[in-house]
Amino acid sequence: MRRQLLELIRCPYCETGLSVSEVFEEQDGEVLRGLVKCECSEFAILEGILNLKADHVAEYFRRLVKEGRQREALGLSLGRYADTLAESVCRVATALESNGTYYGVLGKTMLGLLKARARHEYKRRTSKGATFYSLMGGGGYQTYLKHRFSSPTFWSLYAYVPVLKQKRERILDLCCGTGHASFVISACVEPRELVCADNMFGSLYAARKYFAPQAQFVCLDANCPLPFRDGVFTSVLMLDAFHLVQARASLAHEMERILSAQGLLLVPHLHNSLKYNPSAGKPLTPSGWAGLFHRLAVKGIPEAALVEDFMLRDRLDLTRDYPEDEMDSSDAVHLVGSADSTLLKVFEEVSREFLSQRRNPVINPTYQIDRRQGEVILRRQFPSESFRKEYPLAEKHLPEECSLSGGLAEVVTGTSLSASIDRLSEEDSRKLEDLMRKFVVVNVPEGYC
Ligand SMILES: C[S@@+](CC[C@H](N)C(=O)[O-])C[C@H]1O[C@@H](n2cnc3c(N)ncnc32)[C@H](O)[C@@H]1O
Repeated sequence: MRRQLLELIRCPYCETGLSVSEVFEEQDGEVLRGLVKCECSEFAILEGILNLKADHVAEYFRRLVKEGRQREALGLSLGRYADTLAESVCRVATALESNGTYYGVLGKTMLGLLKARARHEYKRRTSKGATFYSLMGGGGYQTYLKHRFSSPTFWSLYAYVPVLKQKRERILDLCCGTGHASFVISACVEPRELVCADNMFGSLYAARKYFAPQAQFVCLDANCPLPFRDGVFTSVLMLDAFHLVQARASLAHEMERILSAQGLLLVPHLHNSLKYNPSAGKPLTPSGWAGLFHRLAVKGIPEAALVEDFMLRDRLDLTRDYPEDEMDSSDAVHLVGSADSTLLKVFEEVSREFLSQRRNPVINPTYQIDRRQGEVILRRQFPSESFRKEYPLAEKHLPEECSLSGGLAEVVTGTSLSASIDRLSEEDSRKLEDLMRKFVVVNVPEGYC
C-alpha cells in the first residue's frame, strides 16, 4: 500500500481519516506489512493489502499481523472458507479465550488448530512456480475464475476500453474478484492509478500476485459505506457483482458519491430478476437497477446486444435507447452513467487496443490441444454442462473446432504462443488476430496457466 492511498481513504465506520501507525515491512515506498489507525479502530496491512473489514476474522488477522505472525495471518485469509468457517471459529474461540480457565484453554486450542490450517494454506498458496490456474480447484466459483476469459460477461469489458480510456485518471475496480478486469484495464486502458477492492482478502492476494501488481488493494465490505472520500475516482467499475451485495440502495449512493463530477460509472452484468439465472444472487428488474441511482442518469443496455455489437461489428453504441420489453427479456443488463455527455456516443473499432496486447498469449484453457502432422487442432471443451448452459453466447461465438497450420502452428508450444509471433507472416498475423477476436487465443498475465 502506497502511503498516498490514505489520502483517498476514510474509515468506513467513523468516517475519520486514517494514518499509518506502525510499519513492519516496507519496500520501495510501499507499506507491505503494518497497521493504520483512525479514531475508532486499527486495521492491518499485509502483502500491501489494506484490510478494512471489521468481522472476527479481520480482528484476529490484525492481531496476528501485530504479533509478527504474518504467515498465519495470510494463511487464515487465503483459505477457501476464509469467510465462513474461519469467521465462526474466530468468533467462538476469541470469546472462549477471554473466558475462564477451562474455556480459555478450549478457545486457545481452537485458535491453534486454525493457525495450523492457516500455515498449510499459506504453504499451498505461496509455493514457488504455482500458476493461478493450478491453485484453483474444481468448485463452481473456481471454475468461473479459471475460465473467465471464455465468458461473454467478461468480453463485454473489452468493449468499454475506449470509454474507460477517457476517464483513466483514477479507476476503482469494485468487487474485483481475483483481478481479471484489472488485468485488462492495466494493459489496455493504462490508468494513472488503479484501486482494486473486494471482500475476499485471498482474491486480492491473487489479484496482486498475478493480475495487477501495480494496483492498490483494499479489502472491504460493500454492504458498509465505502471507505473512499467524495469524488476521488474518475471511473468506478463493478463487473458481475452488484447482485451479490445486499445493501444495494446504499451502495449505489456510495458509488455516486465517490465518483468525480464528470466521472464514469460502469456496472456491467447485472442479473435480471425477470429471468432465470442459476447463480442469481439477489437480482432486480432492469428498471429496479436503474432506479437505484439518483444523482446520475444511467443508461441501460441489454448484455446480448452489447456483446453481439462488440463481437460482430467491433463497436459500442452508447447512444441507443432500448425499449422496456427488450431490457426486461435480457438475461443480464449493463448500466452506464456519466454527467459527461460527450461519452454517450458510438465507439468504433473498440478491439484495437486489446488486439495489440500480445505479451503473453495462450490458447484459451477452454480448448483441448492436439497436434497432428504439423497442425495444431483446437477443440472447445466447456468445463461443465452448467457452464455451457449459463453462457449461450460463449457457445455461439467460441468456435467448436479450429486448426492452426504453417507458421502459426509452429509458434504454439504447450499452451503458449512463443515470442516469435512478432515474426509471423502478414497472413498468419491476421489469422492470429482473428483467433484473438474469437477468444480462442487470449492474452493472460504471466503465471496464469
Ligand atoms: C462474480 S465475482 C466477480 C469478480 C470480478 N468483478 C469479475 O468480473 O471477474 C463477484 C465478486 O464480488 C465480491 N463480493 C461479493 N459481495 C461483496 C461485498 N459485500 N463486498 C465486497 N465484495 C463483494 C466477491 O468476493 C467476488 O469477488
